Amino acid sequence: MNQLITFEGADGCGKSTQLQLTTAWLRHQGKQVLQTKQPGGTPLGVEIRRLLLSGEFTPIPECELLMFLADRAQHVKEVIQPALQAGVWVLCDRYSDSTLAYQLAARGLDEKLDLTAMLAFAEAGCVPHQTFWFDVSIETAMLRLEKRQQSGEPSNRLDDEAMAFHQRVHQAFGYIYQANQERMIRLDASASIETIQQQIQQIIQKKIRC
Ligand code: TMP
Repeated sequence: MNQLITFEGADGCGKSTQLQLTTAWLRHQGKQVLQTKQPGGTPLGVEIRRLLLSGEFTPIPECELLMFLADRAQHVKEVIQPALQAGVWVLCDRYSDSTLAYQLAARGLDEKLDLTAMLAFAEAGCVPHQTFWFDVSIETAMLRLEKRQQSGEPSNRLDDEAMAFHQRVHQAFGYIYQANQERMIRLDASASIETIQQQIQQIIQKKIRC
């Protein structure tokens, strides 16, 4: 059975590389795969992503949260739900766990709000079957972000947040993992690209056999 699999982790954790490798491998296995991302998985989402991350605007935390949810709601209904209904495997770079880590925990909205109902509203029933969490130390993540910037890749507004923000994101992913171990698999993101990819393939292979 096809599945919705999400790839999560702090900035610089290496999830996007693994997502691309996994897509290529699954296609090689003869599966139909949609590789997509949040924010920015629809034409409207591309605009929301630009507004959120270019640095041109600094939304207040409440606005930032609602914009990520708006992107997700559009993406689920326009892209993810139809793909799942058509039997396509959907691999998504970030999903609701990122909202929990970045907006609820790191922005401190958890003191103001219970997000459960809002997350479910945006997901519209498309709950990930499996989530890979790429657990990376803050130091490694920061080094990778620095290297990316040196190689000319521009940073986004959230990459440029203070160290304390990234630490809160990192810690939050740990808590989210503890609370969702039946869905989430922790991968040591300091391992080599090949090792991590092998682990992912083994886990998905088991699902394909089921
Ligand atoms: P990325 O596509 O390079 O991972 O960048 C997306 C950025 O948006 C990243 O810093 C994480 C952030 N983000 C949130 O803050 N909340 C969310 O719900 C999502 C999906 C992403």
